[in-house]
Amino acid sequence: MKAIVITGSSSGIGKAAAKLFAAQGWQVAATLRKPENETELTEIDKIKLYRLDVTDPASIDNAAVPILNDFEVIDVVLNNAGYGLVGPFEASTPAQIRRQFDTNVFGLMEVTRAFLPHCRANQAGILINVSSLGGCITYPFTSLYHSTKWAIEGFSESLAFELGELGIQVKLIEPGAVATDFGGRSMEFAMPNELPDYGPAAQKFMAAQVNSDRVPATAEQIAEGIYEAATDGKTQLPYPLGDAAETYRMREQVGDDAFIAGTRQRIFG
Ligand SMILES: NC(=O)c1ccc[n+]([C@@H]2O[C@H](COP(=O)([O-])OP(=O)(O)OC[C@H]3O[C@@H](n4cnc5c(N)ncnc54)[C@H](OP(=O)(O)O)[C@@H]3O)[C@@H](O)[C@H]2O)c1
Repeated sequence: MKAIVITGSSSGIGKAAAKLFAAQGWQVAATLRKPENETELTEIDKIKLYRLDVTDPASIDNAAVPILNDFEVIDVVLNNAGYGLVGPFEASTPAQIRRQFDTNVFGLMEVTRAFLPHCRANQAGILINVSSLGGCITYPFTSLYHSTKWAIEGFSESLAFELGELGIQVKLIEPGAVATDFGGRSMEFAMPNELPDYGPAAQKFMAAQVNSDRVPATAEQIAEGIYEAATDGKTQLPYPLGDAAETYRMREQVGDDAFIAGTRQRIFG
């Protein structure tokens, strides 16, 4: 029976992936910051919960040791935990920036490090990192979130070379818009009143979001894409999912400059 470790399993994409892999007969180590609050995953036989905060190295070790004891082989590590910091870069405090990188980038790296010796010993394993369409294109007022996802893209692409030689694969999940709690609970806003210069542009950006005709994918659809990445036997690195695939293609077709000009025109007129 195959086994997967998932970070950020309390909601959204992580929870949908935990349920899907379990339904497909996999054993699932679902890690969460607060397993005591979980009531749904606890009802599923194939899922075991572990406490793990990706920003806390001790908690990563405290989860990895029992997971590696409980499961003979870990086939897939799904680095999913993440959140978005939104607002003008200038408004973000150093503590906010650090927390954004600690969670989305350094947390992902440390979880990867915790399971690499196991994968190396087996000369097998797939590391699936949840990036974003926001790791391939950018919008204004999300520079820090984008920089974490672009970091994950570069990290994963480079890692894929060196781990590929050891029999370990790296894959990137790049969802477009997804209807999860991400836009609510998982978004931190840095938009202080003392920087009114950004107000008009920020309002245009917010209006463009409200008027957007993007149709978000469901967390379940993204989980299906993750399952495909875990099982398709391909060495493919990026998996643009939902509306990311079309946007990704469009940037390739028109080129960077025209794509960026189009984004500016659409948001700021
Ligand atoms: N939704 C979208 O439109 C979208 C698009 C592209 C990419 N993504 C990416 O998809 C991933 C999952 O997001 P989602 O859309 O499923 O949002 P979500 O439902 O809000 O889930 C975010 C998950 O990350 C967890 N998390 C946050 N900080 C953590 C930490 N320090 N340690 C462990 N877990 C932590 C949350 O756990 P708690 O319950 O403890 O807070 C939650 O389980 C993120 O990496 C996000 O960047 C989302």
